[in-house]
Amino acid sequence: MQIVESPSEMQSYALGFRSGGRSIALVPTMGFLHAAHLSLLRLARERADIVVVSVFVNPTQFGPGEDFDNYPRAFERDAEVCRKAGADILFHPSADTMYANDHSVVVEETSLSRTLCGLSRPEHFAGVTTVVAKLFNIVQPHVAVFGAKDAQQARVIQRMTRDLNFPIEIIVAPTVREEDGLAMSSRNALLTPPQRAEASRIRQALLSAKALIDQGERDPEIIRRHVLGHLNESPELEIDYVDIVDGERLRPVERIDALTLIAVAVRIGDTRLIDNIMPACDAFPDSSRQSST
Ligand code: PAF
Repeated sequence: MQIVESPSEMQSYALGFRSGGRSIALVPTMGFLHAAHLSLLRLARERADIVVVSVFVNPTQFGPGEDFDNYPRAFERDAEVCRKAGADILFHPSADTMYANDHSVVVEETSLSRTLCGLSRPEHFAGVTTVVAKLFNIVQPHVAVFGAKDAQQARVIQRMTRDLNFPIEIIVAPTVREEDGLAMSSRNALLTPPQRAEASRIRQALLSAKALIDQGERDPEIIRRHVLGHLNESPELEIDYVDIVDGERLRPVERIDALTLIAVAVRIGDTRLIDNIMPACDAFPDSSRQSST
């Protein structure tokens, strides 16, 4: 496995692979890799000749006062994990090489990114789409793999890929969970043991909503109140939102159906965690091909 730090060197490698007829899969990450990243890497490995993992804690997707400085980092360990998992290239640029001092171009999605996390993190998705567009141009992938835990991010990237005609297949991989159901996230490492114990309530609340839906409940307000009630039992959890939306357009629904997404964001101390469930659907919309929506 090669570690590449320079964006232009990475791009030269990518163009060389392409002209030699080899396909490229990209797994974009912010590092501190865990089992969920490994599942993305495995999918990438199945889909392309060359697997590139990027590790870059992207400053532009963190707002003022957010956890950019505290975001967990462990590059040496990440490199070892990628090597063992069979990545071909670990792309690890610095912020200086990714963003010119006077950079002034932003890629912004203006619909799907305005709901859910976009309300409390107004600059976040423009940072994500800008850096992912840059990674697409640098790494030139045929396929890129993202996780379904970040459902809104996945939808925003599908939309960007469609609207900007990137010839890239976006794969959205199922959420990988800890034994107690907590969605794996690098931010889980920031939780104290008592906070970590409380965090499992998020999944419990979503599963209990799914149980009600399985029994026939279709009123989103009843389900929303149910989830809120469950989460509110813990004084440790500060709820950012519990929203019940259409999994494609991310707008509130009047009745729960097969494409409904229940999305949750909570703060536990200084750590913000998100999770979601599509209670009546097995797969993320357009998970296995380039989105047409
Ligand atoms: O999901 C993440 O880790 C990040 O938002 C991403 C896609 C790597 C962009 O920085």
